[in-house]
Amino acid sequence: MNFTEKDFIQRNNQIGEAADNFTIEQEAPSNIALVKYWGKHALQLPMNPSVSFTLHESKTITSAQLKRNEKPSEKVKFTFYLEGEHRKDFEPKIANFFNRIIEYAPFIQEYEWIFNSKNTFPHSSGIASSASGFAALAKIVIKLEQQLFPDVDTNYLQAKASFLARLGSGSAARSLAHPAMIWGKHPKIKGSSDLYAIQPDFDLHPIFHNFQDSIILVEKGQKKISSSVGHDLMNTHPYKNIRKIQAFDNSLQMLNILQNGNLKDFIKLVEEEALGLHALMMTSQPNYLLMQAETLKIIHAIRAYRKTNKANICFTLDAGANVHVLYPENEAESTLAFLHKTTNCDIIHDHI
Ligand code: DP6
Repeated sequence: MNFTEKDFIQRNNQIGEAADNFTIEQEAPSNIALVKYWGKHALQLPMNPSVSFTLHESKTITSAQLKRNEKPSEKVKFTFYLEGEHRKDFEPKIANFFNRIIEYAPFIQEYEWIFNSKNTFPHSSGIASSASGFAALAKIVIKLEQQLFPDVDTNYLQAKASFLARLGSGSAARSLAHPAMIWGKHPKIKGSSDLYAIQPDFDLHPIFHNFQDSIILVEKGQKKISSSVGHDLMNTHPYKNIRKIQAFDNSLQMLNILQNGNLKDFIKLVEEEALGLHALMMTSQPNYLLMQAETLKIIHAIRAYRKTNKANICFTLDAGANVHVLYPENEAESTLAFLHKTTNCDIIHDHI
C-alpha cells in the first residue's frame, strides 16, 4: 500500500484519552547505506533511492517524559538530555524537527517534553547518531499517536514513523526495521516512496544473515562538514545526472544481490558506491575530502587481504573517514584477527 503526504496529515482533531503525566521510551537502530542517499530536494526528498542494512547493537534509546500543558501552547516546549547532560546545542535541530512534523502530529503541542537519550555506541565515536536519534524521536511520537488514537492501522503507523523520521534526517527514514530498508521511489521497486522507507518484500539470502559490520573509528568526534552541505552541493554537481542514473540502477542491482547472495557482486557494488560517494565530494564545487591517510591504508589492506585469502570482505564509507568493514558471519574470526593487525584504531563490532 502506498501512502501519500496527505494520508499523514492529522485530520482527527479529537484527542483521545491519555494520562496527564507519563513516559514513553523507544529505541532505534543505526544503519549503514549500501547504495547511498546523496542529494535531496524540497523538504527532505531524496535525489535517488538508497538501500541500507540495519545494525543490531548500535542504537539510540530515548525516553520522553510528557506532561500535558494546562494552557495550549503554540510552540512545542521541550528539553533534551544526552547521557544525563543538558544539550542545548541539540535543541535547534529538534525544534526544527518538531516544526516540520507539527502538521502531521499536532497533538505534540499538547505536551511539554523532557527527553533523555543515550547511544549504545561510544559517545563522540563519529558514528552517525542523527539517524537512530531522529528515528527514536519519531517512534515516540508514533507511540503517542497510537495511545491517543488506538484504532489507527499499524502498517500506516510504521510508514508514518519513517515519514516523520525523514523530516529530522534523511537517513533516519531507514533507521527502523531489520535487516534492510529501501528509501526513495523507484519505478521497478513495488511500494517504494520518496516519503518513507520500506522493507524488501523478500527474505535476504542466508549468506547475509547476521552479516557483520566492524566499524573502524579512524576519526572520532563531530564531522567537519555536515551531510547537509554535501547534499546541497549535489544540486549543482557536474555529475548529478549520471549519479542519479547510476543510483537507480545500483539500487535495483543491490536488491537482486541481497536476494541471490552473490558475494562477488555484492563486494563490487558496495565498494563502487562507497568510493563513488567520496568521488562526488571530491568533484563538487567547492570540493572536499573526508578520507584520511588511515582510511586509505585500511582500504588497501582490505583489498590485498581479500585477494590473498579469497576472503569475502569489503568496505563502505559514510560521509566521514571511518571505515565500515562488511563480511559474512562464518569469516568473523579470521577477519577480526586481520583487522586488529591492520589498524590501531578502535573498532566497534556490530551485525545486521
Ligand atoms: C552519506 O541523512 O545525514 O550517510 O538528510 O541532511 O540529515 P540529512 O543527511 P543524512 O545523510 C546521510 C548520507 C550518507 C549516505 C546514506 O546514509 O545513505
